[in-house]
Amino acid sequence: MKKTAVITGAGSGFGLETARLAAKRGMNLVLVDVQADALDKAASEFKDVEVLARVVDVAKAEPMEALAAAVQERFGAPHFVFNNAGVGSGGLIWENALSDWEWVLGVNLMGVVHGVRLFTPMMLAAAKADPGYSGHIVNTASMAGMLNPPNMGVYNVSKHAVVSLSETLYQDLSLVTDQVHASVLCPFFVPTGISQSHRNRPGEFAAPKPTKSQLISQAQTDKAVSSGKLTAADVAALVFDAVDHDKFYIFSHPQALAGVQTRLEDVMLLRNPTDPFIDKPEIGAALRAKLRAD
Ligand SMILES: NC(=O)c1ccc[n+]([C@@H]2O[C@H](COP(=O)([O-])OP(=O)(O)OC[C@H]3O[C@@H](n4cnc5c(N)ncnc54)[C@H](O)[C@@H]3O)[C@@H](O)[C@H]2O)c1
Repeated sequence: MKKTAVITGAGSGFGLETARLAAKRGMNLVLVDVQADALDKAASEFKDVEVLARVVDVAKAEPMEALAAAVQERFGAPHFVFNNAGVGSGGLIWENALSDWEWVLGVNLMGVVHGVRLFTPMMLAAAKADPGYSGHIVNTASMAGMLNPPNMGVYNVSKHAVVSLSETLYQDLSLVTDQVHASVLCPFFVPTGISQSHRNRPGEFAAPKPTKSQLISQAQTDKAVSSGKLTAADVAALVFDAVDHDKFYIFSHPQALAGVQTRLEDVMLLRNPTDPFIDKPEIGAALRAKLRAD
């Protein structure tokens, strides 16, 4: 029987590259994105596998419920669910508008919530019905879910929540089954469309005029994302490596884990949070100077 992959944010970046690898494995593809032109283009690539492409805003409960029903009807329970769609927003945490919080938490957190609450029961039912069934859910968080880099707090909050959700999912699954697994993807900066995610910001969450800190954050993110050395295809390969070998944590840049260690030592030693620019003080000094200038 053919396996099925459900991939959100499939029109670009990690989602698209993961879809390409799933197609190489002969899986049926359920491709989900909010950007119709990108989704159409992605879907038209895949000639040799069955494709169900749906324009869905992952933040919205009802369209996600309709998606899950359509997947069940067409393919049955999926074997691989990649809750990956995500957007970014920066700036000092008290300057974010309510619409920033609602948009980013809606996509980055509630999108994963919907994917987990709708597809996990289908996968558990399939596991019960067939001892040969095996399923895997991968949620995309970020290194920003492991660290708290300054001047991008809304994103950090959303991604820490996804790490928490995913670790809990892993533990909860292991209470009830050996056939459905979970992983969390925590990439560092990789060139994709993420720093331009405002292209898909819905009118209902329109952004007010950006503040100085938000403009600084946007410029820094543009630079960091575009100068990343790994590719989205490299990250997609890591995702399937984790699925194949049942690895929970997927880190694109293991060297960035030194910062996680420092953070956890801060906690364990009851030490105040370490300066994130400790190894590059000139960058911290430049950022402070820019933010403090009138
Ligand atoms: N690229 C990086 O440096 C990086 C680092 C850490 C984490 N991430 C995370 O990786 C994930 C994938 O992002 P990417 O880097 O491939 O960026 P991307 O912008 O190339 O792809 C994200 C896709 O999600 C779609 N999307 C946005 N809002 C949506 C919504 N409401 N419903 C459905 N689809 C929606 C976009 O249209 C886009 O096709 C995101 O969760 C992002 O936060 C990226």
